[in-house]
Amino acid sequence: MKSRNFRIAPSILSADFARLGEEVRAIETAGADLVHFDVMDNHYVPNLTVGPMVCEAVRRCVSVPIDVHLMVRPVDRLAADFAKAGANLITFHPEASEHIDRTLSLIRESGCKAGLVFNPATPLHHLDHVMDRLDMILLMSVNPGFGGQSFIASTLPKIAAVRARIDAHVAAGGQPIWLEVDGGIKIDNIGAVARAGADTFVAGSAVFGAPDPDGGYRGVISRFREALRDA
Ligand code: DX5
Ligand code: ZN
Repeated sequence: MKSRNFRIAPSILSADFARLGEEVRAIETAGADLVHFDVMDNHYVPNLTVGPMVCEAVRRCVSVPIDVHLMVRPVDRLAADFAKAGANLITFHPEASEHIDRTLSLIRESGCKAGLVFNPATPLHHLDHVMDRLDMILLMSVNPGFGGQSFIASTLPKIAAVRARIDAHVAAGGQPIWLEVDGGIKIDNIGAVARAGADTFVAGSAVFGAPDPDGGYRGVISRFREALRDA
């Protein structure tokens, strides 16, 4: 477990959208490993955010990978549009796609890494026939739609269950798969999330809400890394 690489992915959902370019440059300078880009359609989730044009604009501002989390239905056309707009990883919710296997292939054929996202109550059986087609599994630790919600603790055993599936898959010769957790991640719970088996951590309000006297974005990201050192 110690040897696992940990990645911090600040979510732009809590950024100041009027200064988005500056905000994403600032998190990159502060040591973010990925930019987590939340896409909501007011249909799959009751909120509306940003589309491929904004992804293209963010792409010009940073060189870290852009991790696009699609909370949209249908998925396929937007997935292709985000690949063209400079996304590096694209994840979607299995229940939002008519044909999961087709959507995963479409994302990979467009040159991006592909992943599935599970809401707190979405069962893991959607993984059964696609483990060899996944680069990432994203577990939601809040219900999708809004930043600033509290971490749902029943996600911890679910993370451990997915970690076991990934480890078994890799031990059998399968490709590596990142395990990302999204929602309510703070300094005081990131260690437990890592110990349960996650390697990639989305944080929106914890990063962008960081008060300046505490060292701003760099301060939070380094405190996350400190907490992960002990995990
Ligand atoms: C929720 C989004 C999350 C959210 C995380 O639907 O997918 O990425 O922005 O925000 P915090 O860290 O504030 O829970
Ligand atoms: Zn997200």
